[in-house]
Amino acid sequence: MSRKVMCVFGTRPEANKMCPLVKELESRKEIEALVCVTAQHREMLDQMLAIFDVHPQFDLNIMEKQQTLTTITSKAMLGLEEVFRQVKPDIVLVHGDTTTTFAAALAAFYNHVPIGHVEAGLRSFDLQSPYPEEANRRLVGVLADVHFSPTVNNAENLKRENVQAPIFITGNTAIDALKLTVKEDYVFEDEALRQLDFGARKVIAITAHRRENYGQPMENIMEAFAHLASNHPEVQLVYPVHLSPYVQEVAHRHLDGLDNVLLVQPLGVADMHNLLARSYMVMTDSGGLQEEAPALGKPVLVLRRETERPEAVEAGTVRVIGTDRDVLIAEAEELLREGERYHSMAHAVNPYGDGFACRRIVDDLLYFLGEKDLPAENFFAK
Ligand code: UD1
Ligand code: UDP
Repeated sequence: MSRKVMCVFGTRPEANKMCPLVKELESRKEIEALVCVTAQHREMLDQMLAIFDVHPQFDLNIMEKQQTLTTITSKAMLGLEEVFRQVKPDIVLVHGDTTTTFAAALAAFYNHVPIGHVEAGLRSFDLQSPYPEEANRRLVGVLADVHFSPTVNNAENLKRENVQAPIFITGNTAIDALKLTVKEDYVFEDEALRQLDFGARKVIAITAHRRENYGQPMENIMEAFAHLASNHPEVQLVYPVHLSPYVQEVAHRHLDGLDNVLLVQPLGVADMHNLLARSYMVMTDSGGLQEEAPALGKPVLVLRRETERPEAVEAGTVRVIGTDRDVLIAEAEELLREGERYHSMAHAVNPYGDGFACRRIVDDLLYFLGEKDLPAENFFAK
């Protein structure tokens, strides 16, 4: 009899990293793969589901334009409890650190459904940053019955917390998708990107959306972007703006009307990856982009005061620079000089995966469920 494995996710980054895993689950005869989306994000989730051709059996459709962490958590938990009672999955897989992730894990725990945590063990060691993600992933770390950690460092974080449940080291599923999307002859779906001459100017891919950056840090970030655009005509900034009303307002207020700043709608994942691949450098507070850009040899300036992804910092392609306006400008200008700093950062490293994370996770899961004699070999970055 096949085992019911239900993936639960709700936001863009979870979808990007879980859809390749859904495909791998669907390919295994021992598994009945089911998907429940909370739709904590609506448009940005649907964009990813369409690209990966994933069709959820359950859709809780919880998003509100002014949602709070409490409304997301409570609506997701109530909906998920119904789904879990109806389906009785053998295990629920959740991903990373969003509020959907935490709500799904807690609802599964309350309903005695085992939990597998994908992208387990990332830690910034600061509950306020990223907020609320550091709390979400720590709480799921307590509840999970099995952990799939991308890196050795992530697994060590869990062991230091005395986690007793099994931990497998698998690589990050983000890198699986990246191997399929980036192509030299890629044609962008986004009209403005299709028109852009990537050879004419140094393209800087920029994004910012984190909650702990709302307020003054976000104002500083946008002022730095505006300054860089105004003072460096040799530069082209490209910013796919998150659909959060807060982020939309602040981004457009600072950056509208600057002719070397391109504000675009959230991009499909293949557009995003190919934008990274054609960029000179990246400035972002995103978690996922910190994993993807280094694999493409692109320097990343992280617009936060910490990171839960130290591997690429240690490898030299990522610098964590905070949110002070003048520091951002100085750091970006240092890289624009294309000197030693730039060349030491612009080399491809792959500390986060080798493209086979999904296969490992499913093999490890089948082992955990007693359907296989051996787990996959752990991922070790070379
Ligand atoms: C969420 C995650 C964060 C992740 C980010 C990725 C939490 C607490 N935060 O933050 O970890 O980095 O997603 O993008 O789980 N909106 C839309 N359409 C969409 C998506 C969002 O209109 O498709 C708007 C809505 O007004 C929504 C707002 O954005 O209320 C904020 O969305 P929310 O999921 O609450 O927070 P994010 O900042 O996106
Ligand atoms: N991404 C995308 N289109 C965009 C911006 C991001 O496909 O316009 C992808 C990106 O490549 C990465 C993921 O979304 O895989 C990161 O999502 P986000 O920055 O929203 O969240 P975080 O990773 O910070 O949680």
